[in-house]
Amino acid sequence: METTRVGVVGLGTVGTGVARLLTEHRDRIRRRAGHTVELGRVVVADLSKPREISFDSEMITDRLSDLTADEEISVVCQLIGGLEPARSIMLQILESGKDIVTANKALLAEHGPELFDRARELGRSIAFEASVGGGMPIINSIGQCLSANRIDSLHGILNGTSNFIVSQMEEQGWDFPTALAEAQARGYAEADPRMDIDGSDAAQKLAILSHLAFGARLHWTDISCVGIDELEFVDLEYARQLGFRIKLLAIAQRSDAGLELHVSPTLVRSGQPLAEVRGSFNAVSVVGDAVGRVFLQGAGAGQMPTASAVVADLIDTAVGRTRITFQTLELWSHGEVRVKIRDHSEGSGHYYMRFMVDDHPGVLAEISGVLGRHQVSIASLIQQPEESGHPSGQVPLVMMTHRATEGAAGRAIEEIEELPSVRGSGVRMRVLS
Ligand code: NDP
Ligand code: HSE
Repeated sequence: METTRVGVVGLGTVGTGVARLLTEHRDRIRRRAGHTVELGRVVVADLSKPREISFDSEMITDRLSDLTADEEISVVCQLIGGLEPARSIMLQILESGKDIVTANKALLAEHGPELFDRARELGRSIAFEASVGGGMPIINSIGQCLSANRIDSLHGILNGTSNFIVSQMEEQGWDFPTALAEAQARGYAEADPRMDIDGSDAAQKLAILSHLAFGARLHWTDISCVGIDELEFVDLEYARQLGFRIKLLAIAQRSDAGLELHVSPTLVRSGQPLAEVRGSFNAVSVVGDAVGRVFLQGAGAGQMPTASAVVADLIDTAVGRTRITFQTLELWSHGEVRVKIRDHSEGSGHYYMRFMVDDHPGVLAEISGVLGRHQVSIASLIQQPEESGHPSGQVPLVMMTHRATEGAAGRAIEEIEELPSVRGSGVRMRVLS
């Protein structure tokens, strides 16, 4: 009977989960693939490191060449993070005639076109469901299940670490460093967690989804990106008082003017599905012209949820499905550019703003005067009394605006920060309308 032998490069959080699924659920996977899919070889950087799972000594190696030279292995899970040596390893695996399954979105967002071109030239495939959304099946949903649609918008929580941190701060009152340390201990965070908290990881995922869903051609660093690293507890509290939660949202919105893309902490009305996504969960709300709105939610990070996506890709590759979809996927192919990327400053939204101001008459008039000159109008206002623990004589001024352009809101804030009665920097966040 046919057997698919699998190589795994990288035995960290995700690689260990994949090895566990392949060994502990062999029968289930055999039934789904119609033949045996078994682990053939595992490549790690450090052979002396203690592992959660043990292997026969000939199965585990620190030499990639042991895997690339093994002709019985037809598909490899590339599960190391970062750009190099991940890129060179991926090219060597393709050159050795093997298909690839990967979870590495940083690599795809940076070198996707090169890797996809090479795979297509060599007649190989790359499957990457786990690269966006962990266990939440968003890549196949957009690439296959929604392929009859023109996708009009995509609003997503795409970073499990950030969502976990903000949830723990909001619900448990944890401070930021404690919540980040726990996300790292649970295996959610990247090796360099700055990528999670400064929004880069979500921007890389949004870039991959935008290529897939809209035929956009852009580099992930072209996406306007603000992370949760400067989010203050006080804004979570004001948002709650106003009936909102703050979520790190990745947004792609198509209009006649083009595709608007951004990643930023955003106020979402409590009770809306995206506002209720907690912990390390991810979610995406996609609107297609035929299907309407589709909402997906699932564990966005962590060992077994991510392994679930990797092993599903392995089964698809073993069965031959990936080979077919990879050839037709409109991702990093040389097809026409289907959408123009809109300049970020032209986009518009409602905003939450907070300023620390001297508590004397006329301050509000000065601020609203600046906003008015920039065509930004105030929809509601909260002013906290002086006794609420702020420096003497200073009060926070919190407001929500009507719709304004990103450029106008940004210019207004810069001007307000220059006013003598305004202390420090203002805070501005989008409100999901
Ligand atoms: P880890 O840091 O836990 O594991 C990385 C593994 O790569 C380690 O086992 C390390 O080996 C191995 N490695 C590093 N360099 C080499 C090398 N040159 N040759 C062979 N092996 C090497 O990462 P994760 O498992 O968390 O993440 C892997 C990928 O999956 C990343 O791209 C990440 O972004 C992505 N991902 C992660 C998710 C998660 O929840 N953790 C979710 C979705 C995607 P050694 O053990 O010997 O040091
Ligand atoms: N570090 C990533 C996250 C892993 O927290 O979402 C999943 O891609």
